Amino acid sequence: MDITGNTVFIPGATSGIGLALALALRERGNTVVVGGRRTELLDRIAAEHPGVETVRVDTADAASVEAAAKDVIARFPSVNVLITMAGVMRAEDWTRSSFLESAENTVVTNVLGPMRLIAAFVEHFRSLPDATIMTVSSGLAFAPLRITPSYNASKAAIHMLSETLRLQLADTSVKVVELEPPAVQTDLMPGHAENEHAMPLDEYVAEVMDIIETQPGAREIQVERVKFLRYGEARGDYDQVVAALNATDPHGE
Ligand SMILES: NC(=O)c1ccc[n+]([C@@H]2O[C@H](COP(=O)([O-])OP(=O)(O)OC[C@H]3O[C@@H](n4cnc5c(N)ncnc54)[C@H](OP(=O)(O)O)[C@@H]3O)[C@@H](O)[C@H]2O)c1
Repeated sequence: MDITGNTVFIPGATSGIGLALALALRERGNTVVVGGRRTELLDRIAAEHPGVETVRVDTADAASVEAAAKDVIARFPSVNVLITMAGVMRAEDWTRSSFLESAENTVVTNVLGPMRLIAAFVEHFRSLPDATIMTVSSGLAFAPLRITPSYNASKAAIHMLSETLRLQLADTSVKVVELEPPAVQTDLMPGHAENEHAMPLDEYVAEVMDIIETQPGAREIQVERVKFLRYGEARGDYDQVVAALNATDPHGE
């Protein structure tokens, strides 16, 4: 993906990585449309960052995704980058039966949401000379954090979906890029923004922008910090990675 000149829709950018990436992309000469459920944050973003556009969308709701996609494509026909950022992460205890509601919610938001978004944009993207679907997985797609079973599984699903979509779209104008964050200090989970094992948000986004700029053909956007989790199996130290992840850091990401 080129670093500049795109029209980028980021559902899930009212806070955290999505918002920081939106502002960095805007600074680099992209038109940016930020999406999310919290309208008070959307209003504040629009007021504080003139030129950043906003759309309300609940990616866990099929009708909302469809309406938001139609709105974005109608208002910004040049939209050529979709970043499926919206996600939730919850601690669950699968040794008891109370996890199911959390698990279902996680799958709907983290897996079905990106699927619905991609379905709503893929034909439009195929009509353009150059477009990018950027999915958002996690280091936890590759090594499990004990306390978040559904989350880890949802991100592993996004990894494999990304790999497969790339094959299906290989002969089209649509590229598939997977963003694989390590632990980054955001409000994704309670206490996570203060987690000393997590990467500061501004450092993370600066490294991501550097990768996009210097490796425009990258299929997976991996900052140095995620490689410990990402390549444990390939290196042959997977068991040690899993042990270290679960021994030292209750939140992992
Ligand atoms: N921070 C990390 O350590 C880390 C590591 C790996 C991967 N990630 C991934 O990065 C992405 C962003 O997370 P973050 O860390 O930046 O956390 P965050 O600050 O909590 O951001 C999550 C974003 O997702 C949006 N969202 C959640 N559910 C939504 C829904 N149903 N509809 C629309 N938007 C929804 C939220 O907006 P509203 O609440 O306004 O809807 C918010 O903008 C997630 O996919 C997460 O899994 C994060």
